[in-house]
Amino acid sequence: MENASTTRQIVILGIETSCDETAAAVVRRRGPGDGQILSNIVRAQLDAHAAFGGIVPEIAARAHVEVLDALIAQALRKAGIGFEALDGVAATAGPGLIGGLMVGLTTAKAIAAARGLPLLGVNHLEGHALTVGLTEGLLPPYLLLLVSGGHTQLLMVREAGAYTRMGTTLDDALGEAFDKTAKLLGLGFPGGPEVERHAAAGDPARFDLPRPMLGREQPHFSFSGLKTALRRAAQDLSPASEQDIADLCASFQSAVCDVVVDRSATAMALYGECAGAAAPRHFVIAGGVAANRALRAALETLCAETDFALHAAPGELCTDNGAMIAWAGAERLARGVSDPLNMAARARWPLDPDAPPATGAGVKA
Ligand code: KG4
Ligand code: ZN
Repeated sequence: MENASTTRQIVILGIETSCDETAAAVVRRRGPGDGQILSNIVRAQLDAHAAFGGIVPEIAARAHVEVLDALIAQALRKAGIGFEALDGVAATAGPGLIGGLMVGLTTAKAIAAARGLPLLGVNHLEGHALTVGLTEGLLPPYLLLLVSGGHTQLLMVREAGAYTRMGTTLDDALGEAFDKTAKLLGLGFPGGPEVERHAAAGDPARFDLPRPMLGREQPHFSFSGLKTALRRAAQDLSPASEQDIADLCASFQSAVCDVVVDRSATAMALYGECAGAAAPRHFVIAGGVAANRALRAALETLCAETDFALHAAPGELCTDNGAMIAWAGAERLARGVSDPLNMAARARWPLDPDAPPATGAGVKA
């Protein structure tokens, strides 16, 4: 167990290559909930994938190879340190696109082997889940809504490394639903920020889109019906004007907010039962979609009604970055945990391996 007298500072290099962002960062952990970002460099691969309207795994992996070494050098330079000042090297080991994961993890292994440093193979979702510890010192237990391009889950974070999944999506992830909506409407990629931007000029009441799963007992999600309804509405308008697109985006975002608020309220009620009435009522939103301001505002209202305190990292630390990986790695090292140099990357790696499959769930649970 860590206590004040045994706490020592840990400096970690964090590498993130699980999707289409190449990222490297240096983070110093001074103690539980006490971290400092010394550098945080993110290079998006937008141009490489733009022509395809989505991420091409092989292109992503090659693009990581091309820039990762330079990004690591830049992160160290910006932090004002060399490899000798590091206490460990962390890289995302899963879940994600396997080619990209292997690029980052192999690079981390090479640095760890050459410098005799501990290797920390980090679960990307844990990186998102623990970011609030770095940004505002919030420690578990808390209720977490993790909404990204590949995942949509409600989890109880019991402590770092121990998660109970309460709800998950039966089909698309929420970020994926935003991205598909944007693609359908001819907007750019990634779609979330584009949909949010157009929604700001739109009428959320113009299209009566469905709110899937509302009122269901378990806090699961489903977005495919909403996606289909949006496609039909868009087809009926074709060709859609700028205002039509804005109204479609606003109506979509409003349906999403209603669903997420309802599902989160259900998880909040279960959280009391699960964690005990005395458990602190903290509600954390993480992952790329947590950058969405309309969603944050809707959840703020819910939290005020349910007596939960809402926590979210700043937007640039909600989307993929190396700092969250370094921080999650530092948390592991502080607990005395590190990984063998032959650790394998994992395309699939649930935070709660014991969670029963949700009825009708695809492989994303
Ligand atoms: O966490 P993240 O960077 O990568 C994954 O781990 O998936 O999340 C990326 C996702 C994308 O689907 C993107 O469209 C979505 O987050 N996103 C947003 C916003 N910013 C990013 N969705 C809605 N509103 C936003 N402002
Ligand atoms: Zn992510």
